[in-house]
Amino acid sequence: MSTYDVAVIGSGPGGYVAAIRCAQLGMKTAIIEKYSTLGGTCLNVGCIPSKALLDSSHHYDDAIRHFEEHGIEIPGEVKLNLEKMMERKSSVVSQTCDGVKFLMDKNKIDVIEGVGSFKDKTHINIEKDGKTQTIEAKKTIIATGSKPANLPFIDLDKERVITSTEALKLKEVPKHMIVIGGGVIGLELGQVYRRLGAEVTVVEFLDRIIPTMDSALSKELQKVLKKQGIKFHTSTKVKSVERNGDEIIVKADDKKDKEIELKGDYCLVSVGRRPYTDGLNADAAGVEIDERGMVKVNEHLQTNIDNIYAIGDVIRGAMLAHKAEEEGTFVAETMAGQKPHINYNLIPGVVYTWPEVAAVGKTEEQLKEEGVKYKEGKFPMRALGRSRASGDIDGLIKILADEKTDEVLGVHMIGARTADLIAEAVTAMEFRASAEDIARMSHAHPTYAEAVKEAALAATENRALHI
Ligand code: FAD
Ligand code: NAI
Repeated sequence: MSTYDVAVIGSGPGGYVAAIRCAQLGMKTAIIEKYSTLGGTCLNVGCIPSKALLDSSHHYDDAIRHFEEHGIEIPGEVKLNLEKMMERKSSVVSQTCDGVKFLMDKNKIDVIEGVGSFKDKTHINIEKDGKTQTIEAKKTIIATGSKPANLPFIDLDKERVITSTEALKLKEVPKHMIVIGGGVIGLELGQVYRRLGAEVTVVEFLDRIIPTMDSALSKELQKVLKKQGIKFHTSTKVKSVERNGDEIIVKADDKKDKEIELKGDYCLVSVGRRPYTDGLNADAAGVEIDERGMVKVNEHLQTNIDNIYAIGDVIRGAMLAHKAEEEGTFVAETMAGQKPHINYNLIPGVVYTWPEVAAVGKTEEQLKEEGVKYKEGKFPMRALGRSRASGDIDGLIKILADEKTDEVLGVHMIGARTADLIAEAVTAMEFRASAEDIARMSHAHPTYAEAVKEAALAATENRALHI
């Protein structure tokens, strides 16, 4: 029987990063993955394929709607080749997954394919094609991730009533895609198919889309997506989803409690994800799982069993790849006796629609709830020279700073390339910068980043220069 210092169960961004860091720190490491490709949800059916489709559909949309205004004429009709777009996405995915395999080999990490399940707290059975092998692991990291959640009354047939996994590989552009859930997945994939020509209707239970983000971002994003042709029903409670041949009928109660009926040919259910521990046999090791299915951990990300840790989507907190990665590094370093730290308040959140939405720190709603006195500085993207040059004029940047100390408490952005711009806010906040600090730093001209400086100027004595 092979013995390892550490076994990692699951090869998503949490698991594979943990494995690399463990190996770097001199631990003999194995990674167990039930699928034949490494990379987990993020690389196979999440972040990477969704961004590949967002980028491809963005090019298509530009060619159809925006080239002309830039003086670019295409003789003949711009045509969509969905099969080719999907093939490209698949090749981006496989190259990325191969990259993870390369990193495992480079770091001398044993990759074991099969479903990992605890035999006891130091032994793991790995089953593949009816055969089981057992390894001994002094320590184990559970990184088994998450799966799409569903509503109890919906029959996900995975053909027409689908999750993100199927939406990433449709063979045709829907005529009318009904999206249940106006969160990250619904809006990103809704925008992909809207750009490719589908009618898209989003049904959201709460009173605004992306409800966990600052309400200024929800408002602006909904406005822009409406302009792009996406329809919204907020404060609307779905009651039933039925399939009749190729037709999907969604019934819901709207904000006035009036029944509405939507008919489409596809229904994307994107109402969140649930932690995944099926088949793990956590009981055999005595690992506690809470009532929501999450593996319980303490502040060291250690379970109730002292040699077993858990990270990523399977534990509490944001279900984000970069959060899982930070936790992977954190656990490896903790095991090695170091004292790492994660500032959960500074994990940025991004929605990769166009315009992109990005945020870090506290929302205005949170500050109000916590009774913190704050100042606000806002700057509209349309006032930037760079935005006018590109034609990407939608959006704004909002900085919230402590009323007395001027410390930046939250940064909320919507606009072109804000997914990348948010890194400046994270850096500033990690170093506990004041709005004045950001306002006094030189930002290259003409860039979208100038809006960060201008919002900081607005937050300090209302002295934005270009508005
Ligand atoms: P996962 O990536 O879910 O990996 C878990 C792995 O464990 C899987 O490979 C699974 O097969 C394996 N596994 C489970 N049980 C066992 C077992 N018993 N034995 C062996 N293997 C097992 N996040 C972002 O930050 N940015 C994005 O742009 C983004 N886009 C997304 C788009 C979509 C459509 C989706 C669905 C998610 C997206 N996410 C994004 C979220 C991101 O994918 C997750 O937060 C991230 O993958 C979590 O990483 P993880 O390592 O915890 O788990
Ligand atoms: P989500 O939590 O982002 O959004 C779910 C939405 O569905 C919410 O707005 C919620 O109010 C709504 N909802 C819940 N129940 C409903 C109901 N009965 N009827 C109508 N609406 C309902 O979840 P989503 O979009 O499924 O994504 C899952 C996870 O994947 C997210 O937590 C996110 O962290 C991660 N992800 C991250 C991405 C990124 O970082 N860009 C991209 C895609 C996914």
